[in-house]
Amino acid sequence: MIISPSILSADFANLERDIKAVETADWLHIDVMDGHFVPNITIGVPVVASIRKVTDMPLDVHLMIENPEKYIEAFAHAGADIITFHFEAVSDVNAVIRLIKSFGIKAGMSIKPKTPAEVVFPYLENLDMVLVMTVEPGFGGQKFMQDCAEKIPAIKAKAQDNLIIQVDGGINAETARICTSYGANSLVAGNYIYKSADIKSAIASLR
Ligand code: DX5
Ligand code: ZN
Repeated sequence: MIISPSILSADFANLERDIKAVETADWLHIDVMDGHFVPNITIGVPVVASIRKVTDMPLDVHLMIENPEKYIEAFAHAGADIITFHFEAVSDVNAVIRLIKSFGIKAGMSIKPKTPAEVVFPYLENLDMVLVMTVEPGFGGQKFMQDCAEKIPAIKAKAQDNLIIQVDGGINAETARICTSYGANSLVAGNYIYKSADIKSAIASLR
């Protein structure tokens, strides 16, 4: 199980402290938003480059932006280990996957709640990860949508054994169990981890 705490719920004025606090997890999830693809603006390339200097955790960069192909090189050079783009934001999916992989890093593709599972099927063998959003992307702290997680078995049935299936949005110990029972093997969690009184136990409870 790959646990990826989302720093969207961290204190950005104490980001290094809040990254060190989750180092018992596996990856660090970084939400990049542009105010166009989603109605919120968050983190950009310079922040990812600064994060790279203070942690050895793999950086799991979730691009919620239009025209992600314009920024992939910059995020790769900033130190991203996994770059996930949105199916809904691109026209040539395979070209974007190839671009990410050209930097020797993992390529993920995400689908929003209203996007059906089937759209990922033609690309599965080229992808390292599929991210099934379990809330509308844009904000932390939203309620988990179970019908989104129900897309996972169809993806898992078509996927190669080593495909990572990640879920993001409203994940806590209870919803994590639902997602893993459907076949998810990577869990993103923001509020559940960062708003808990005991961060290490919260991470352990997701495993
Ligand atoms: C939402 C982001 C998530 C967010 C999840 O658009 O992609 O990564 O941080 O936050 P929680 O876990 O609080 O729902
Ligand atoms: Zn995310």
